[in-house]
Amino acid sequence: MINVAVLGYGTVGSGVVEVLNTNKESIAKRAGDEINIKYVLDLRDFPGDPVEKVLVHDFDTIINDDEVDIVVEAMGGTNPAYKFAKASLERGKSYCTSNKELVAKYGPELLELAKSKGKNFLFEASVGGGIPIIRPLNQSLTADEIMEITGILNGTTNYILTKMSKEGLDFDTVLKEAQDLGYAEKNPEADVEGYDACRKIAILSSLAYGEHVDYEDIYTEGITKITDADFKYAMKLGYTIKLFGKSKRVDDKFYAMVAPFMINSDNPLYSVNGVLNGILVKGNVIGDVMFYGAGAGKLPTASAVVADVVDAAKHIKTNIMTIWSSKKLVLDDIKNSRKQFFVRVEGDKAARLEEIKNVFGDVTVISLEELKDEFGFITPVMSEAEYEAASLEVSGIKTRIRIESV
Ligand code: NDP
Ligand code: HSE
Repeated sequence: MINVAVLGYGTVGSGVVEVLNTNKESIAKRAGDEINIKYVLDLRDFPGDPVEKVLVHDFDTIINDDEVDIVVEAMGGTNPAYKFAKASLERGKSYCTSNKELVAKYGPELLELAKSKGKNFLFEASVGGGIPIIRPLNQSLTADEIMEITGILNGTTNYILTKMSKEGLDFDTVLKEAQDLGYAEKNPEADVEGYDACRKIAILSSLAYGEHVDYEDIYTEGITKITDADFKYAMKLGYTIKLFGKSKRVDDKFYAMVAPFMINSDNPLYSVNGVLNGILVKGNVIGDVMFYGAGAGKLPTASAVVADVVDAAKHIKTNIMTIWSSKKLVLDDIKNSRKQFFVRVEGDKAARLEEIKNVFGDVTVISLEELKDEFGFITPVMSEAEYEAASLEVSGIKTRIRIESV
């Protein structure tokens, strides 16, 4: 029998308990042994919940029990999660977590510690909710050099953008829905300002390129400035707007960023809607591969965590290696990366077009019947630095959104 302790009985932790109980027999078959939930740790009591029988409030009970083989963490944050992860691995217990803050910040150190103990630090649910993406990067796409990763990596923001675009609902109403559905982070600023997607692209990039991508080095822009009007322009152009986490290798340089992008229907990520996430990985041998599924939510996320538990049980005495080293990957400045931009500007199209063409070159203009005092234009392909310099020469720019060409 393999004994498991679950830290945190919230959305994900309670899902893990439910999945381990619901699929007990098939999970035992796959793990090669029965998985027993010996403890659940939480700050709160849960009167009437069957979990009461195994509920503890003190981590020492877990860490000092040599019968506990695997610790599952679904508390979130780095304190005390980092302390608990370190202590667990040091005491020879594998650690499975959905906590991307922990993984993005302490991933290399905890992987190294797990390796030195012949145990495992696993984090499939930390990116893409229920979508298998960590294991494919570690174990399946090993013949390839990964050239590029583009992902819709946050369920909350994709849910918000989809509802804004398809139902015309306002930002705050939809955010509240996403929170009620258990998709959002404790502080939803992490979702809407792009910080969560930033940690996720840092994790994926570190695994793909083999050196540590520090999430604090990644340019990050969220979705809080996206409005109904932006969607109207996008729709007229045949585009939609998605929050992307992206990283790319160009020769010996690496770029990474998080920002909203306009994409057209030729892009495979165009139809990834609602809480679903999609991750497009480009390998130098395989070409494009796409991973798609529920990016957040209790049971999909628990499915990924329990898959880690099964893997940890199957490798109870063996470390599953990754190439993520603690050596820092130096990212190139995104100012050198090139793309088109969609820009909204105040004023009358006829009166201002000449001035805008003089600065930006050959732009494509678009206007909306209902917005008389502004219009939009699409720039030629230019670098971020060139865009910034040009935008300083044009007054009345309201917004700009990057365009992803397929
Ligand atoms: P919740 O807030 O729903 O659950 C966290 C639980 O852990 C709460 O019950 C909380 O108690 C408890 N907890 C917090 N600190 C401690 C502590 N020191 N000791 C014991 N218990 C503690 O969060 P989620 O389940 O949504 O998320 C958990 C983690 O999984 C986060 O890292 C999140 O980013 C990640 N994740 C979440 C997904 C989702 O869809 N929700 C998807 C993928 C990953 P209390 O409420 O009293 O603070
Ligand atoms: N808040 C996160 C999201 C949870 O919405 O994607 C899954 O990591």
